[in-house]
Amino acid sequence: MTDLDQVLSAISEAAAAPFERAKIPPPAFYTSEALTRLEEERIFRAEWQCIGRTADIPEAGDYITYTHCGQPLFCIRDKKAAVRTFSNVCRHRMMELLQGSGNTRRIVCPYHGWIYDHAGRLTGAPHESYFADFDKKGICLPEIRTEVWQGFIFVTLNDEADSVAARARPLDDLLDRFRMADYVPIVTEDNVWDTNWKLLTENYMESYHLPFIHKGTVGGFFPVEDCVFPEDAPAHFTYSTFTKSEGAAYGRAHPDNTRLEGMWRYTNILPTIFPSHMFTLAPDYMWYLSLAPQGPGQVRIRYGASLAPEVVAGMSNREAETAAAAAFLDAVNNEDRHAVEGAYRGARAPLTTPGPIHPLERAIHHFIIYLAGRLNGGGRALQAAE
Ligand code: FES
Ligand SMILES: [Fe+2]
Repeated sequence: MTDLDQVLSAISEAAAAPFERAKIPPPAFYTSEALTRLEEERIFRAEWQCIGRTADIPEAGDYITYTHCGQPLFCIRDKKAAVRTFSNVCRHRMMELLQGSGNTRRIVCPYHGWIYDHAGRLTGAPHESYFADFDKKGICLPEIRTEVWQGFIFVTLNDEADSVAARARPLDDLLDRFRMADYVPIVTEDNVWDTNWKLLTENYMESYHLPFIHKGTVGGFFPVEDCVFPEDAPAHFTYSTFTKSEGAAYGRAHPDNTRLEGMWRYTNILPTIFPSHMFTLAPDYMWYLSLAPQGPGQVRIRYGASLAPEVVAGMSNREAETAAAAAFLDAVNNEDRHAVEGAYRGARAPLTTPGPIHPLERAIHHFIIYLAGRLNGGGRALQAAE
């Protein structure tokens, strides 16, 4: 049995165990290079990846960039308000076209100046008459499949993948009341942390750590007994809900919020859309992470935070108050970073063996069931990954 076979069999065993007896798989689950390659092939190339929010690109010509499984891409709002995604690689000599985010009337390659429109079509090239048989009309940037769900933009390299909206639809009953697509972005940034992507995903989906590692920020206002999970493991996502007690700085509805009633005014929902998109939706804010592994020991994180529209409207000093909210959420992120980077160093240590899963970590078991299904998908690709 190879090391990869061993870790796959441990993942299957953890997935098959009843939740009460399920254990976290051995440390190779987080440290194996071969498993990381298999994850790229069977998970990330096959699934949807969240790359941002439609609210990040509200106007025609607004764009964001991203790299998904080695494919640079840009996502742009076109003149008809459609959100479209294209390969961000010039059809001349392969230069990356756009960087970061911004607004542009046309996409001009920084290398030799080829020009593309919002539909990815080549519209011009310097001294194009010098080319023999230059058929401009036949040159277009490849388009990448894109969907929008609850204001999140998803892309996939897999033409066969089921619609992300259909996969996540059961969550809409919980989420629609918040009208999250109207939340106003205050931060979008990319970070790289020294940890395995699954440690961060698992951290985000469990609330067992809240009262402890976040005791200085969000943890003090978390009544453990109010935490709820779906009983069975959904195929494409999981979630938990919990409430925020009075006095919490964030996580309760603003008085001008007329959308939410009863317990929903102080209930927070934490969905994870498998494999690696997770968000906290609260009556007053939303933040999300979308993870892209860079080998077993590093993860690139697209992180965004937004505030409910009435929270922003009610601010007397918008700049200072949004900066304070962003700094608070940043502090929470740094507490998580401390935990998941420390856990990755722990996973690499020779004497390490992980233990049982606490009931407040139930969603981790859902995640392991999902991973086992995806990773044990057939023998041929398994050999290729070794
Ligand atoms: S590589 Fe883009 S114009 Fe030459
Ligand atoms: Fe956390």
